[in-house]
Amino acid sequence: MAIEHEVETTGLVGWIDRRFPLTSTWKKHVSEYYAPKNFNFWYFFGSLALLVLVNQIVTGIFLTMNYKPDATLAFSSVEYIMREVPWGWLIRYMHSTGASMFFVVVYLHMFRGLLYGSYRKPRELVWVFGCAIFLCLMAEAFFGYLLPWGQMSFWGAQVIVNLFSAIPFIGPDLSLWIRGDYVVSDVTLNRFFAFHVIAIPLVLIGLVVAHLVALHEVGSNNPDGIEIKAKKDPDGIPLDGIPFHPYYSVHDFMGVTVFLFIFAAIIFFAPEMGGYFLEANNFIPANPLQTPQEIAPVWYFTAFYAMLRATTDPFKIVLMIIVALLGLFALVRARGKWKLGLPVLAVLVVLAMAFTESKFWGVVVMGGAVISLFFLPWLDRSPVKSIRYRPFFHKVFYGIFVLAFLTLGFLGTKPPSPASTLIAQVCALIYFAFFLGMPVWTRLGTFKQPPERVRFKPH
Ligand code: HEM
Repeated sequence: MAIEHEVETTGLVGWIDRRFPLTSTWKKHVSEYYAPKNFNFWYFFGSLALLVLVNQIVTGIFLTMNYKPDATLAFSSVEYIMREVPWGWLIRYMHSTGASMFFVVVYLHMFRGLLYGSYRKPRELVWVFGCAIFLCLMAEAFFGYLLPWGQMSFWGAQVIVNLFSAIPFIGPDLSLWIRGDYVVSDVTLNRFFAFHVIAIPLVLIGLVVAHLVALHEVGSNNPDGIEIKAKKDPDGIPLDGIPFHPYYSVHDFMGVTVFLFIFAAIIFFAPEMGGYFLEANNFIPANPLQTPQEIAPVWYFTAFYAMLRATTDPFKIVLMIIVALLGLFALVRARGKWKLGLPVLAVLVVLAMAFTESKFWGVVVMGGAVISLFFLPWLDRSPVKSIRYRPFFHKVFYGIFVLAFLTLGFLGTKPPSPASTLIAQVCALIYFAFFLGMPVWTRLGTFKQPPERVRFKPH
């Protein structure tokens, strides 16, 4: 039975309700949205991501009031904000720290999804919207990083836009089209500004709304990975559900308080975070005639950047062998059934790899690492959602995957060496094996029986 959301009929609220779904929306999405009562620590990060989103938009608006998107003025306008504009330093540090904290929060939020199988049926679209948000967030951070027009802004953009030129046939024209010039210039700065302040934020907000609407359509998952809607009382209310407001609004308020302590501590005591949040080279104005010794992206991109760098010529050959073996495997399995699509695809990919440079395949590997996330709901075939009821070796695989990702992230911040390249290659293989092997390994092992009702200990 569907839950009825009663609305006001008198007073100002009644007047509005007869013209606009105010009370019913509040009830449907807040005060009568029944969330599982066993949410834990990992469930703080969705609301924190919302908080950081608002922080970025509000501080961004104030920064825009004094920032100048002009190659001759951009760097000094940021210095002006930092030194002359009243409270400008605070607004700027809230925005720069907010960018890094956005990724901290979102990475933890995504990891929760992985832990509890929150992407599984019926939440596939919640996850897909989330992945699209992650892509937008990466684009938003990339465009924003050019704006201070420091050495890292300039050379970082130069390196990333040049990656597109590795695409066969259209590459060089494509990177020229993106830059709007033969090198990163004032033209590029202006268009990146437009993307950063309006185009991407609009898409991002739209996707966040879609993410939450999809979530509220199907209901939240929980650490036990069982559907609370399966057991309802005669009024149609899930037996293991509690209203989001006031129970989780209070709960999230506590998360927000702790988060703000950490956020403020960083802003006031370590806004550069040892060069991880704000890089030393970016305190030097952009100089198109002088390439910095090391060009490294900000920490949240380094895992993907390390995969790009690890795709050397010998690694391309390893990838070709792997694709060929996968094709062979598919051919053996397709025997007699005329299912030759995958083997033919494998042959085409191997041929394409043989005739194109490894730089292009680096871009494919880097892009593929993000795109793989979208397919998680269909790759994971485990009979239970939550890690709690999976075999021990699944937990070991999760641990190895996280370790490989963190190692890649660390290596991406360092200049490459033969040893670090080899480690990055092994970690990249682990990353892809985790996802591509999922249809096989997630089915294996002895699973525990999940309980009928969620496990909950009141405190
Ligand atoms: C701007 C970024 C984002 C915002 C503001 C946001 C917001 C939220 C909120 C408020 C919730 C409900 C509370 C919670 O479960 O923590 C949620 C749930 C969820 N989000 Fe996000 N999210 C963002 C990014 C992402 C990303 C990047 C992914 C994955 C790629 C993702 C996947 C999910 C999933 C699967 C759920 C359901 C979790 C469950 O029911 O167990 N979200 N999100």
